[in-house]
Amino acid sequence: MKKLIVANWKMNPDSFSRAELLVRAVQKTAASSKNAKVVLCLPYPWLTDISHKKHKGLSFGAQNVFWENSGAYTGEVSPAMLKNSGVEYVIIGHSERRKWLGETDEMINKRVKAALKTGLKVILCVGEGIEIRKKGLSAAKKFVKNQLQKDLKNFPSSKLQALSSYLVIAYEPVWAIGTGKADKPEDTVEMAKFIKSLLAAKPYTLNPNVLYGGSVTFRNAGSLLQYKEINGALVGGASIKSKEFIKIIRAAG
Ligand code: 13P
Repeated sequence: MKKLIVANWKMNPDSFSRAELLVRAVQKTAASSKNAKVVLCLPYPWLTDISHKKHKGLSFGAQNVFWENSGAYTGEVSPAMLKNSGVEYVIIGHSERRKWLGETDEMINKRVKAALKTGLKVILCVGEGIEIRKKGLSAAKKFVKNQLQKDLKNFPSSKLQALSSYLVIAYEPVWAIGTGKADKPEDTVEMAKFIKSLLAAKPYTLNPNVLYGGSVTFRNAGSLLQYKEINGALVGGASIKSKEFIKIIRAAG
């Protein structure tokens, strides 16, 4: 199965021409890769201009979405707007939004449901902070379980079944994001197995792909992606350096 290599550009770059250059730089490698499916999650101002045109080998994603499809919600972008612009994926619940925008699990739950209902594929981010991880992997699992239970609350299970392939979980330990200290692959594998078994059980009965995010570079990508339990990577800093990102795509095999 192909690995999902997702670029989270965050609030970069600062011009459309630079965004276009980045897209063009990675497209050829993405189109010729047999083992990677490449998704670029761009900031809104560049996203729809780029996503509404076909780019062979590339899929596009947003970094957030609102939970209503239209109405008086100043500054928000709806799932329908994204879907109608050729956007396939949306990242929801990133720790930077939880931290800087006061995003709660209740808000994330509403976003996830609305996005899936509209036919967007959701990359739901979960992960513990350093204070929890210091207590060990079991404490981290407990934290992640609690996030998942809240973020995926109240899904009618019959609907969930149909959405199984539309939900992707990104395990992003907060302490690993932007720090240069990625999680140990063996610990990530254990967390991925835990997430998969939690969501395989009732009431979810889901079989989601699980990605790892947090200081993924071309140096560590191969050692993470070699494991079947890790279905791909969510890449921040290294995704806006085209040469590095290309090497990460190649690391998928
Ligand atoms: P870095 O790859 O810069 O650590 O960021 C990870 C991330 O937050 C991806 O969503």
